[in-house]
Amino acid sequence: MRVGLLTGGGDCPGLNAVIRAVVRRGERHYSDELVGFCDGWKGVIEGNTTPLDVERCRGLLPRGGTILGTSRTNLYKVDGGPARAIENLRAERIDALIAIGGEDTLGVANKLAGEGVSVVGVPKTIDNDLSCTEVTFGFDTAVQIASDAIDRLHTTAESHDRVMVVEVMGRHAGWIATHAGIAGGAAEILIPEEPFDIDEVSQRLKRRHERGRFASIVVVSEGATPKEGTMVLQSGEKDQFGHVRLGGVANRVAEEIESRTGFETRVTILGHVQRGGTPTAFDRVLATRFGISAIDAVHEGAFAQMVALQAGAIVRVPLDDAVTTLKTVDPDLYHGVAEAFFG
Ligand code: F6P
Repeated sequence: MRVGLLTGGGDCPGLNAVIRAVVRRGERHYSDELVGFCDGWKGVIEGNTTPLDVERCRGLLPRGGTILGTSRTNLYKVDGGPARAIENLRAERIDALIAIGGEDTLGVANKLAGEGVSVVGVPKTIDNDLSCTEVTFGFDTAVQIASDAIDRLHTTAESHDRVMVVEVMGRHAGWIATHAGIAGGAAEILIPEEPFDIDEVSQRLKRRHERGRFASIVVVSEGATPKEGTMVLQSGEKDQFGHVRLGGVANRVAEEIESRTGFETRVTILGHVQRGGTPTAFDRVLATRFGISAIDAVHEGAFAQMVALQAGAIVRVPLDDAVTTLKTVDPDLYHGVAEAFFG
């Protein structure tokens, strides 16, 4: 078969490990020809391809980013996008396409499947917000990077008796914040799923000081929102999938904490550091398992499906189920575990 591969959306540690696994099994086990589409759906619309083989994939396992490039192009927002994409897949004699991405990229894959394209999805995102899979690769690496940063901030917070506000990514889901906050011993964790009252947060920090704990780590998810009427936030521009560009809420949170408590407060916004560099061993293994399973799915004709992790096993789920609702933070984890350490 001639199998196409693309990576879409934000880059993510482990993308290259998926590509490597698909290519290895495709070439050696199934005698496939592998074709990479450059820069996500943009490459499919423009017919921009690159050949992929085992040699090209040497040394890829620990490499962050994606050798195929990526973009946030929504082909359904481009004039004639779907027709051009289908025409280019035909011109390239692609029998099946493996799309590696998050809800946006896989949402497009799902629509194309509805138009008759043979497509298999692989779930990727540091945000861990895709339904039907317990975890996406990239998440473990992002949490590790954020926890390492929090450990470092603890020592400086303690030396200066400061409140350190750390902003992490995650878009509309607070998975990175919750896990990194638990792992890093945060005094407060603010996530989009639980609108916060800055006054209550400040009161808890004051009480913490009264108990002699003069250093506090406050982890803020970039999509965290205040309870209505309690604090004003600015909103940014939107991408082709309608997502507002987030980032910077920590600055507002820190200003409010400092003015309400009088405690010296500093801000660290981790940003894209969380997406860069080498994947953890966990993410390399998960990405490799997903890659092998995706090319197997292609050869078993399991199209319009996404490979997923459930109870430790790799399974297949309908793409439609995976992209319809976001997987948000489990309230038991937040209220039952994280919250036990607040204040
Ligand atoms: O979806 C991954 C993610 O890193 C989000 O956590 C973040 O909001 C967004 O991508 C940032 O996107 P960009 O790299 O386009 O600024």
